[in-house]
Amino acid sequence: LKTRRPIIAIDGPAGSGKTTVTPKVAEILGLLYLDTGAMYRAVTWLALDKKILINDEAAIAELVSQCTIRLEKPEILANNTPSLRVWINDQDVTTAIRSPNVTAYVSAIAAQKAVRATLVEQQRTYGRNGGVVMDGRDIGTYVFPDAELKIFLTASVQERARRRQIDLKEKGQGDFSLEQLEADIYERDKKDSSRAIAPLRQASDAIEINTDHLAIDTVIDQIVSLYREKIGIS
Ligand code: DC
Repeated sequence: LKTRRPIIAIDGPAGSGKTTVTPKVAEILGLLYLDTGAMYRAVTWLALDKKILINDEAAIAELVSQCTIRLEKPEILANNTPSLRVWINDQDVTTAIRSPNVTAYVSAIAAQKAVRATLVEQQRTYGRNGGVVMDGRDIGTYVFPDAELKIFLTASVQERARRRQIDLKEKGQGDFSLEQLEADIYERDKKDSSRAIAPLRQASDAIEINTDHLAIDTVIDQIVSLYREKIGIS
């Protein structure tokens, strides 16, 4: 007997549009939003801040077992404000976790067993009663394999690099060449897809949406329609 409300899982590679699309879908459907990538990023930020070596798995396991991550919806959702504020151990890292440095190390941290075990447990607790939309890499395959709706967002490496370039520029985080960004994205895809535990892959029952030639609003509309068709409410 199912007592929880529905769950939407939105997975896909870096730059496929998840973090832009998912909070809007949550808002329209009145669901909670959880950006699981932000949790892996927060742990990475903390490890770097504490100057722990990224491959010191024992030290990182200790770190993740003791830290407190909080994701909070800001009261005012103006344009350009992030849709979630991220805190680790009471430090606001909302902007810091998007830095190129954190981005460069996050895949190595996210591949570690203790990190995944701890964060996945928190994600499952958060989604226990349903009514949530989560974005990540392994939500539909591992965190919530019985999610009512699974979306797999994709886009070409070129398009994702282009989006990242605009994004970094707008945030004043640097001017990077497309070649550099394509190489970074390619590398991160490879690491995220080839790791041993819960690698990035499309669940067999996920619906793929390629966002290369789609406006953000179109992607949002498609997901909202799919949800309404499938759940038959709202
Ligand atoms: O979506 P993002 O770029 O913020 O995610 C950052 C990294 O975190 C990504 O390179 C892989 C990892 N990640 C993961 O392993 N599992 C998730 N559910 C979400 C993110």
